[in-house]
Amino acid sequence: LSIIHIAAEMAPVAKVGGLGDVVTGLCKALQKRGHLVEIVLPKYDCMQYDRIHNLRALDVVVESYFDGKLYKNKIWVGTVEGLPVFFIEPQHPEKFFWRGQFYGEHDDFRRFSFFSRAALELLLQSGKKPDIIHCHDWQTAFVAPLYWDLYAPKGLNSARICFTCHNFEYQGTAPASELASCGLDVHQLNRPDRMQDNSAHDRVNPVKGAVVFSNIVTTVSPTYAQEVRTAEGGKGLHSTLSFHSKKFVGILNGIDTDAWNPATDTSLKVQYNVNDLQGKTENKIALRKFLGLSNADVRQPMVGCITRLVPQKGVHLIRHAIYRTLELGGQFVLLGSSPVAHIQREFEGIANHFESHHHIRLILKYDESLSHSIFAASDIFIIPSIFEPCGLTQMIAMRYGSIPIVRKTGGLNDSVFDVDDDTVPPQFRNGFTFSTPDEHGVNSALDRAFNYYRNNTEVWQQLVQKDMSMDFSWELSTSQYEELYLKSVARARVAAN
Ligand code: ADP
Ligand code: GLC
Repeated sequence: LSIIHIAAEMAPVAKVGGLGDVVTGLCKALQKRGHLVEIVLPKYDCMQYDRIHNLRALDVVVESYFDGKLYKNKIWVGTVEGLPVFFIEPQHPEKFFWRGQFYGEHDDFRRFSFFSRAALELLLQSGKKPDIIHCHDWQTAFVAPLYWDLYAPKGLNSARICFTCHNFEYQGTAPASELASCGLDVHQLNRPDRMQDNSAHDRVNPVKGAVVFSNIVTTVSPTYAQEVRTAEGGKGLHSTLSFHSKKFVGILNGIDTDAWNPATDTSLKVQYNVNDLQGKTENKIALRKFLGLSNADVRQPMVGCITRLVPQKGVHLIRHAIYRTLELGGQFVLLGSSPVAHIQREFEGIANHFESHHHIRLILKYDESLSHSIFAASDIFIIPSIFEPCGLTQMIAMRYGSIPIVRKTGGLNDSVFDVDDDTVPPQFRNGFTFSTPDEHGVNSALDRAFNYYRNNTEVWQQLVQKDMSMDFSWELSTSQYEELYLKSVARARVAAN
């Protein structure tokens, strides 16, 4: 198949969170299976340009419509992780992707509706005939209604549209009138069965539009796919998702097992593998030294946490876990940052309080290399999310032999099974879970983990080895995407004949 992914993130060049990891991991796995995979991204000023190979501008200039005019787009091509990528650089006075950050601008709706239209123009003007156009999250959700309204009739009509929503919390709603900028028909689309937001009739909802107009709609775990069909979990879209449930499915993400591999990871002090765990201990000693933590007792458990600090992640429970770890006599290392000013300030307060403490360290920034060191050094990894569409850090932690503690929600519920849960076959039990998102819940799991670690060394060691050997690669999930793509393409062919 010829498959084009259109996205706002791609690891490692433009990554904010898991979306970037997924775009790269899934595309690599699809390419490995013999498909022709290409990716379209905005050309951000703040990308990691040193990770793009052979970046060059094409001679062709693609013109795209916005605010009643045609704008030129410079098109760049390059290779990221072995994948061909097109980067769109709009020649627009508002310098949409020249802002020093990927998201969080006041005009994100304009920036990404412009990008979505320019991406479709690129496909059309370069004569591509993809079988599948796969879009991710609200930033590229405009592609589905644009395709339906304008581009299928224009000749891209052999493509099927797949939309993956990585987080229904972010729907990108805006006043309906803003839709006109990218050439969409506001009157046609601002209807309850199309793009109109379910709770504000003068607003449009790009994610709803993508759900309505795509051929395939997915989210990133089976449990989350169930949760978002309920009034409690659907963030206003549960009725839309239930209505379209025939084309909606949850597929658990994988991780890129080449990028996340303790046996080859060059960010680590010492590489290690499941048969040689001495290296893991050396990474713990090295990280303690680097962060100025006490190294008196090598058996003192280290709890790690690497996350965006947003309410979804249970920030109050993360804070509680820091203090509980201290009470239990462990060490805690947090790597995270927050786009929410008061949360960032609160954690800065905690970081300063523990600035020269021997057992607690908070590093409040984004740091890819340090994240690898923390996965390798920690014994326990905590993710007390309020909701979690999939979550990748529990899988990465396990690959590095750090045992996850998670709240049972979304993809955490599909990938972590409690060591004490007799209803689960023993070979799947790989961590500690709790259900109620409160301090008692955290304590119940954290206390048990400490107890196992301290009093059951042999069992702990077996658990570490089991978790490191579990298969979280993209293999299984990719075959599920492939099957959806193939079925959808076959249905279209039958309909055309
Ligand atoms: P989300 O996408 O909701 O943030 P995921 O668990 O799916 O959550 O993915 C988060 C990704 O971002 C992981 O690869 C994690 O290691 C990484 N990450 C999160 N915060 C940081 C940080 N401060 N520094 C480095 N990497 C981070
Ligand atoms: C979102 C979700 C996270 C998921 C990631 C990749 O950011 O919050 O749970 O793992 O997307 O799909």
